[in-house]
Amino acid sequence: MDPLSSLASLFDASRAHARLRQTDPVHWSEQLQCWFLTRYEDVAHAFRDPRLSSARSELFIARYLADKASLTRDYLRLSKRSMLMTDGADHARLRKEYGTGFTHAFVKSWRPVVARVMDELLAAVRDQGRMELVSDFSAPLVPLILMELFDIPTKDRKRFRTWIDAAGKFGNVLEAGPVRRANDSMRRMEKYLLRHLLRNEPEERMDVTELISNVILTLTAGYVATSDQLSTGVYNLLIHPNQRLLLRERPELLTGAVEEVLRYTPSAPLIYRIALDDIPMGGKVLRSGQWVCLAVAAANRDPTAFHEPDCFDITRKPNRHLSFASGPHTCLGAALARQVLARGLEVLFHSQPGLRLDPERSRQPKFNGGIFYGFHSLPLVFSS
Ligand code: HEM
Repeated sequence: MDPLSSLASLFDASRAHARLRQTDPVHWSEQLQCWFLTRYEDVAHAFRDPRLSSARSELFIARYLADKASLTRDYLRLSKRSMLMTDGADHARLRKEYGTGFTHAFVKSWRPVVARVMDELLAAVRDQGRMELVSDFSAPLVPLILMELFDIPTKDRKRFRTWIDAAGKFGNVLEAGPVRRANDSMRRMEKYLLRHLLRNEPEERMDVTELISNVILTLTAGYVATSDQLSTGVYNLLIHPNQRLLLRERPELLTGAVEEVLRYTPSAPLIYRIALDDIPMGGKVLRSGQWVCLAVAAANRDPTAFHEPDCFDITRKPNRHLSFASGPHTCLGAALARQVLARGLEVLFHSQPGLRLDPERSRQPKFNGGIFYGFHSLPLVFSS
């Protein structure tokens, strides 16, 4: 039987992935019609291999949404112009033009915004002694920060947030309703951005659609990945009390804790590419046109790259995880994501004393759709 026969097994970094890495590291899943790479070295190389294309929007729709293609027109039109879905010279141009706002120095200057948004969200639950981490904190957090950074006026933020939420669900849920809502939200964001934000001349080497497409990419992809990563980060620290205690005793380990959370349960555990050529790998041949899954979650637990990989260890050094990818598509928002995760873990564990899982309400893990891994809900209690 295919070891990746269920959705849950797709995300099971410690068992299903380990079994594949040991027995069949370049694995063809007949059921999923996709190659799965689970070794650190193979995944790291694959991220840099120009024969593995990122231009996958059209193929994704043809494969999973063929019967609903008419509902995805705007989504496709915009998403295929984003840097995430382009290759080679086009990708390099978009990244160069758009990426200037994401330098470390610039991201550092956003610190006060990040801190203020977090304080406001926590102030709303402080007296209650309990919170639902996802809806009260990790989900609203990044949209609020990004909308402020993108200058979306306060009066428009509520409706803009509903568009971000709906568009962020594309690919995670394949039913007609959410697909239609994601598509409509893309069109509405485009219209809004055209009317309100882009009255000035667009960048010289980027047309308006490209600019809008990449703004939307930042608002949607960055938001879901960071929200999920923060939720699983909090969860990991709560279920590893010795590591949590260590972090309290040695706050200088915060940076290490963020990297370990990213390694241990990456919020984007499976990244997909399309083979543009026949590519020999590990005694097999990836055929041109086939889907290839770079199983980051598995690579992050490869014992040839990490000592005792299944151990959650915030002192781990070095920690060269692949959770922000590697090569030309390395996450553009990594510096912002790291800042949000560090500050998020810090404020939650320092200013909410006695933070723990709520024993009376159950948590709901999320691994639907095969793209993001996190929680739908994570109820917590603390001493108010
Ligand atoms: C913990 C949070 C995050 C994780 C785990 C993450 C992960 C990733 C990964 C794995 C990729 C590469 C995808 C691929 O190669 O197909 C990527 C690309 C990207 N990410 Fe993130 N991301 C996070 C947060 C963010 C944030 C906060 C932003 C922006 C505000 C952002 C913006 C982008 C952009 C624009 C790209 C496309 C880069 C390119 O194609 O050249 N990400 N991210």
